[in-house]
Amino acid sequence: MLDQPEATEFAVLRIGDQEIQLPIIVGTEGERGIDISNLRKYTGCVTIDPSFVNTAACYSRITFVDGERGILRYRGIPVEQLVKSASFVRTAYLLVHGYLPDAECNRKFSDLLNRHSMLHEDMRHFFDNFPHGAHPMHILSTMINALSTFYPNVDSLSMSEDIDVSTARLISTVRTIAAFAYKKSIGEPVVYPRRDLPYCANFLNMMFDSPVNPYEIREEAVNILNVLFILHADHEQNCSTTAVRTVGSAQVNLYSTISAGMSALSGPLHGGANQAVIEMLKMIQADGGNVRKYIDMAKDRSSTFRLMGFGHRVYKTYDPRAVIIKEECHRFLETMHCKDPLLDIAMELEEAALKDDFFIARHLYPNVDFYSGIIYRALGIPENMFTVMFALARLPGWIAHWKEMIGAGTRITRPRQIYIGKTYRKED
Ligand code: SDX
Repeated sequence: MLDQPEATEFAVLRIGDQEIQLPIIVGTEGERGIDISNLRKYTGCVTIDPSFVNTAACYSRITFVDGERGILRYRGIPVEQLVKSASFVRTAYLLVHGYLPDAECNRKFSDLLNRHSMLHEDMRHFFDNFPHGAHPMHILSTMINALSTFYPNVDSLSMSEDIDVSTARLISTVRTIAAFAYKKSIGEPVVYPRRDLPYCANFLNMMFDSPVNPYEIREEAVNILNVLFILHADHEQNCSTTAVRTVGSAQVNLYSTISAGMSALSGPLHGGANQAVIEMLKMIQADGGNVRKYIDMAKDRSSTFRLMGFGHRVYKTYDPRAVIIKEECHRFLETMHCKDPLLDIAMELEEAALKDDFFIARHLYPNVDFYSGIIYRALGIPENMFTVMFALARLPGWIAHWKEMIGAGTRITRPRQIYIGKTYRKED
C-alpha cells in the first residue's frame, strides 16, 4: 500500500449505544479524510455515497487539484509553469516517473517514443473493416484493446515489459492509430510517423500531410498543441481514471485497462464535452446567436439542455486550465490571422452565465472543454476528433495512475451496496 500518513486526530462515531473512533488522515495539502476501512468490521455498517461525491478512493502522489482555489499541479509542479517550461513528452515522463527527465532520460524516452511509433502492419488492415463514419473514439478504444493481442504480457503479474516501453508504445502508437483513423475517415493514404519530428509535430504531420499537398509544420501550431496536451495530461480521480484504476485492479492487461478509460472518456459529460461545446455554439449561431435563450434553457429544470463546457465536479471556481486555454486561444487565432465567430459566441455565453445567479449559486464556470474546441478548429482538427485529442493527452495520466495502483498492491475494487429490493418471496 502507498504508505499512508499517520492519523493525528480521530472522528467519533456513535451508533446507538456503540461509540467508535475513526482515524482522520491529513494529506500533504491539508485535505482531511475519515478512514473507514474498518467501519463494517466494528459496526456492521457501510457508508453510502452515490457517484463518490464525498469519497476518496485512494491515496495518490500524482496530481493535486484544489477546486476551491483553482489549483492544478502535476507531481507538485503547477500546470501554469509546465506549459511555459516543459513539452508534453517531458510532462508525460514527470507524471509516470514523478520527476522531469534530465537531458539523457529525455533522449532515451524520446528514442523509445520514436521506436514505438509504428503500428504493427497486421493492425493497419483493421481500419478497412470499420464502418464508414465510425466515431474515432470507438475505433481508438477498439484498436488499443487489440494491442493486448499483440502484446499480451503487459499486466501487473508479469510486467515483463519495462513500464517505459509500455508507456512509449501507448503514447506513441495510439497517436499513430488516431492519425490513421482520421486519414481513413477522409479516404486519404495514411502518413507514417517520422523519426526527425518531435511528438506534436509528428502528429500534425501524420494528420495533415499528403502526397499532393505537403503540410507546413508551423511552430505556433506545435506550441499550442503542446500546451493543450500538457493541460489535459492528468486530473486525479476523474471518471476515466477511476475506470482505469477499477479495471486495472483486476490485473487486466494494461492496454485493455486503458481501453476502458478511453470508453469512459468518450461520454459527453466527460471528455466528449469538447465536441459537444462546438455543437452547442454552432446551434446558437444557427439560432441567430441568441445566447440568452440558451442560458434560460440551461436553467430550465424541465429541459435536459446543459451549457456544455460549463461546470465541474471539483472546480467551484474557474478551471485553471480554461484560464490558460482562453488566453492561448485568443493569441493563436490572432497569430494565425483567423477569426472564428464561435469564439465571440463563447465569450458572450461565458459573460452572460458568469453574471447569472443560477450559475453563480451553483459555482458553474467554464471548464477545460469550453474553449479547447475553438483551438482544435483553428488547427484544422475535425470535431469528431476533439475527444481523441483529449484521450491522446490523458494517456500518461492513466498510465501513471495504473502504475501507482499496481505498485501499491491495491486489492480488487469491489464496493458494497445498500439493497432496497424485494425481500425473500416465493415465485409470483
Ligand atoms: C471533464 O472530473 C474531472 O476532473 C473531469 C475533467 C478531467 O480533466 O478529467 O475535468 C474533464 O470531464 C470536464 C467536464 C466536461 N463536461 C461538461 O462540460 C458537461 C457539462 N457539465 C455538466 O454536465 C456538469 O457540470 C458535470 C458533469 C461536469 C459535473 O456534474 P456534477 O458534479 O454531477 O454536478 P450536478 O450535475 O450535480 O450539477 C449541480 C447543479 C445541478 O443543478 P441543481 O440540481 O442543483 O438545481 O448544477 C447544475 C445541475 O443542473 N449544472 C448545470 C451544469 N452543470 C451543472 N446546469 C447547466 N449547465 C451545466 N453545464
